[in-house]
Amino acid sequence: MMAGSPASLSGQDVGSFAYLTIKDRIPQILTKAIDTLHRHKNEFFEKHGEKGTEAEKKAISLLSKLRNELQTDKPIIPFVEKFVDTDIWNQYLDYQQSLINENDGKPRWFYSPWLFVECYMYRRIHEAIIQSPPIDDFDVFKELKEKNFFESQESLVALCTHLQELRTTIEDLDENQLKDEFFKLLQISLWGNKCDLSLSGGETSSQRTNIINSVEELKPFILVNDMEHLWSLLNNCKKTREKASVTRVDVVLDNSGFELVTDLVLADFLLCSQLATEIHFYGKTIPWFVSDTTVHDFNWLIEQMKGSNHKWMSKCGADWENSIKMGRWVYHDHIFWTLPHEFCVMSQVAPDLYAELQKAHLILFKGDLNYRKLTGDRKWACTIPFHQALRGFHPAPLCSVRTLKAEVQVGLQPGQAEQLAASEPNWMTTGKYGIFQFDGPL
Ligand code: F6P
Ligand code: MG
Repeated sequence: MMAGSPASLSGQDVGSFAYLTIKDRIPQILTKAIDTLHRHKNEFFEKHGEKGTEAEKKAISLLSKLRNELQTDKPIIPFVEKFVDTDIWNQYLDYQQSLINENDGKPRWFYSPWLFVECYMYRRIHEAIIQSPPIDDFDVFKELKEKNFFESQESLVALCTHLQELRTTIEDLDENQLKDEFFKLLQISLWGNKCDLSLSGGETSSQRTNIINSVEELKPFILVNDMEHLWSLLNNCKKTREKASVTRVDVVLDNSGFELVTDLVLADFLLCSQLATEIHFYGKTIPWFVSDTTVHDFNWLIEQMKGSNHKWMSKCGADWENSIKMGRWVYHDHIFWTLPHEFCVMSQVAPDLYAELQKAHLILFKGDLNYRKLTGDRKWACTIPFHQALRGFHPAPLCSVRTLKAEVQVGLQPGQAEQLAASEPNWMTTGKYGIFQFDGPL
């Protein structure tokens, strides 16, 4: 533990959300992954013959072994398969080992930091797959991500239609109207984060109702609302920007499917309102926390939109493809996002990524896992300032846009957490509440 910072959330705390996740939710996700491989066995055979069948069996046996290790709280073992991040992961495992004082103690599932073991589990799923060629590029969560997208169609159509209407009238909007639209799309992107699939253990979690109509009634569930800061920052950039200079907004993406569309709609608006001139997105290099966006998901979704038979949806797809071609939208990959490290060590572990983020005028961190990494997934008092919990991670002005799905929350008013807990003991973990939490000079 770094001096002066509280202990990590961990499965040691029986009954905590971390404990329940390791005990119930993670094994359930593993079982679903095994089942998915099994259901694709004919496809593997058709594609690769006997080798495909053998690979499927191998991947299943590796995942079953992993589930057994977890359920019997076995020691965390190093990675064996060579991959770009294997050495960094194994060094991190050594570091976790060094934190354990008992004589021959080894990091174990329920006794190690929750953030570490949960990330480790997804990295082990990836290892099981890459150890099983020729199916080593199979994404066990792809089906679920695609299902989430298809099940949210109605809401997506409404969103794309809203965006097109907005685009045609944007020139006529005064500053207050523009600000209202900015706030609306920010909130849609926030509530889009309810739709992650790891919280629901891979059960469907799509957006079936029209989210635009819900924004007003969901407002009371925003616990920290720094939207005004975001507006002042970007509007100021717009007003003071010299011709041909850049205002860059970086979005650290979270889930694919519905949430990703809400993020892309926001990005589209930022450009057409000239609040920004360039948007940079960051996705995951490997399948992660069930629904997180990889480059395949990102491209797949834009292709799907383009091919939609709904006029405005396909226009969005075509416009977005064009934004990428023109370099107004840039997609980045970096292995750091699928490491277990807290963001406060990014400048040492991934200085290139830190330097890239420093180029942004504003960074939006989508989702719960990013919040856990921003705050180190630690037992902070709820009233500790966000700036303090970031422990030196200040690449650029930043904002967490997150619905609460883990027992960590900072920057609340005195008494706010107590009041919520009195009426809803699970207020931190259901995804019902959300935050826009900003850090940076104003
Ligand atoms: O276990 C639930 C959970 O997996 C949390 O561990 C994690 O923080 C969250 O769901 C993922 O949420 P998000 O997609 O918003 O990062
Ligand atoms: Mg996610």
